[in-house]
This record gives sequence, structure tokens and C-alpha cells, in this order.
Amino acid sequence: MSSAPRLLALGAVLRQYEDYWRPAPFWQRHPAWCDSTPDLVAAVMTLNDAETEILAADNARLWRWLARYMPDWAHFAELCALPAPRHDPIPDLGRRSWHIPGRKQAQIQAFADVLGEPVAAIVEWCSGKGHLGRHLGSQWQLPVLSLELDAALCAAGQDFADHMALDQTFLQADALATGSAAHLAQRHAVALHACGDLHRALLVGAKAHGALAIDLAPCCYYRINTPRYQPFNPEADVPLSQSDLHLAVTETTTAGGRERRQRDVAMARKLGYLAWCHDHGDASRQAGLKPVPAAWNRRPFADYVQAMAARDGLGWDARADWRAYAETGRARQKEVMRLSLIRLAFRRPLEIWLALDQALYLERADYAVTLREFCAPGLTPRNLLLSARRQATI
Ligand SMILES: C[S@@+](CC[C@H](N)C(=O)[O-])C[C@H]1O[C@@H](n2cnc3c(N)ncnc32)[C@H](O)[C@@H]1O
Repeated sequence: MSSAPRLLALGAVLRQYEDYWRPAPFWQRHPAWCDSTPDLVAAVMTLNDAETEILAADNARLWRWLARYMPDWAHFAELCALPAPRHDPIPDLGRRSWHIPGRKQAQIQAFADVLGEPVAAIVEWCSGKGHLGRHLGSQWQLPVLSLELDAALCAAGQDFADHMALDQTFLQADALATGSAAHLAQRHAVALHACGDLHRALLVGAKAHGALAIDLAPCCYYRINTPRYQPFNPEADVPLSQSDLHLAVTETTTAGGRERRQRDVAMARKLGYLAWCHDHGDASRQAGLKPVPAAWNRRPFADYVQAMAARDGLGWDARADWRAYAETGRARQKEVMRLSLIRLAFRRPLEIWLALDQALYLERADYAVTLREFCAPGLTPRNLLLSARRQATI
């Protein structure tokens, strides 16, 4: 079935509810939906910290909770349903698993299990050390060309392959350069976690040069060299900035307790600082904040603001009520976490919409395409797998 109807239906909902997902409550204290759906605000603000955390980390639970206040969610959740493996694999890669970090091993095995037998020699796009290519090449006894920009990763990957006497060759090349896509011709292209422009180049190159098959797990959709998302199809008519694209990859799934506490403190401090900036007539912080060194979060709050203000070229007054600003930051952080749940509910629909735009592009280039999840989100939240086979090859 064509991806077009689903792309259109998801796009319509994204447009209808854009007030709920475009504004980030971190920057916009009172998004418009707070006025239009006060019962939703009341409900979200009564959640405790643990409930907020659980809903933020689990799309399915969040959608069930939201469906009580937004009945359209049941339909929306249906549009986002994808085939998925019943269980994640227990990694058993034997010699192939050398030097692959544990979680990556399981991702690779899950990806390979769902892919099945490649239809031709493999080209591994943005391969890193070529762990996926090594696994597939050794499993199916096929030649592998691993294309990667970083020379050190290429050298390390080539060492592993040579050690196993595998037919895997690393090509140190820029995937975005003219000429790289020619390597896709008549091959089976695989890419695990290729970012924005890199996976775009793969899809465009595969079509132009006639790749026989593509298996792509996209990630970091916002890493693009254009200020806005360039859709592949006219039906993909939801305008997206780079910051909107960030939403598709916003996750809290893999953060542990200590990491979460550090994240909360860091956010509360930034919000306390923004409150201080606001009171001092500096609205320019709305444009964004530079990354904050972790060590600054361990300083007394007054010193933290002094360091931030110095970096931002603002004057600083030691007599401010720092205790009050720190408390404002903590209260705002709790509010932001709760209000952001509504926005987070749209991250997966947005990601699936982006993948459907890619799927439709390949269908129109005469590929048979399936979109599915290759593993549970706990293994990697970037678990979408777009599989395309040239019609003549199946
Ligand atoms: C997220 S990593 C994924 C690596 C590997 N596929 C994996 O799953 O372990 C993305 C890889 O793309 C590579 N890369 C970044 N820009 C590139 C470019 N312009 N051309 C080729 N590779 C690039 C990076 O060096 C990195 O190894």
C-alpha cells in the first residue's frame, strides 16, 4: 500500500495540533493550548515527579493518558502503529561481536534479523568502524564496502575486517561529496543511524544510481544544512524548522536516575538564570543558551549566574535575591517538565511522518517499501527501519 494516505493523514493531525507541539514550554511559559484546554493543563499539573517521568519515557502510556483529554489520540495512535519484532534478540555474534559495545551489538543483531538476506553486495553508508557491515558480510559471505568520513574509524574497522579475513573494504569519503553516491549502484545499501543530510544523500543517491535495496535506520533529522526541512514529496506539507526537527529525537528513555537528577538541576538553573535575565531587561536570551559546562552546575547559584552573565556580556549585581531566583528556577523546571509532556506526545508522530516522506519518495522511484521498528525503544529510541527493494529485484 502507498505511504501517501498515511503521510497525508498524519500531516493533517500535525497541522491541526501544531499549537501543542511547536512551542517549547522551556522558552514559552504559556503556550496557547493552556488557554484553549484548561482541563488538560490542570490534569498535567497534578502529576507528581514519578508519573511525569514515566509518561515522558513511554509514548504508549503517554498517548493512553492523553486520550482521556484529547479523544483524537486513539486515531492518532493508530496512524503511528508499526510492525515490530516481538522480542529484542539476545546478542550472540561470536567472533563478529569483537569490539562492539554491548547495546550496539544488540542493535546490530536486531537490524540484521529484520533485514534478512541482502540482495547484493553491501555498501555501508556512514559506517563508523563498520560493525554492521562486518556482521552482515560475515553472516552472508558477501563483499562489503564501508564508506566513512573519519579516517581513524576507517583504519580501526579495516583492522577488524582484516583480522577476520573478511571481504570488507573501507573507503574514507564524504557521503555528501559528488561521486560518493556512485558506490550505491547495483548494491544493497545499509545505514544504521545516519544523520539528517547523510541519510538524505543516501536516498537521493540510491534513486539516482539504482541501488538494488536500501535498509536505513535514520537519526538526528535536524542535522541538515538548510534552515528548514526540504520535503521529498509535495504531500509532505508541514513546514518544519531545525528546532521542530529536534522534537522528533527528544527522548528521556535511556537516562538513569543520577543522569536525570543532573538534567533537572541543569534545567532549573538555566530557568533561574533566564528569570534573572528577564528581570534585568535582557530579552535576548530568548534566542537560546550556549551549552553550560557541567562544573558550573556545582557552584553556588550566585556564582553560576555570574559566570553565565559574564559569558553573555551582561552586568551582574551581587545583591540580588539569589535564593529566590534559584527557587523560581526549580518551580519552573517542574512546570516545564509537565507542560512538555504534551509536546513530547507528538515526537513519534513527527518522526514517523518524516520516515513516511522518505518511504513515499522511494515508492515513487519504483521501490517496494516497508517501514517498521527493528527493536524496542529501550535498545535504541531511533528504532525505525525503512526497507526498500527495487521492484525488478523481488
Ligand atoms: C551516528 S554515527 C553511526 C555509525 C555507525 N553506522 C554505527 O551505527 O555505529 C554516524 C557516522 O557518520 C559519520 N559521518 C559523519 N559525517 C559524514 C560524512 N559527511 N560522510 C561520511 N560519513 C560521515 C561519522 O563519522 C559517524 O561514524
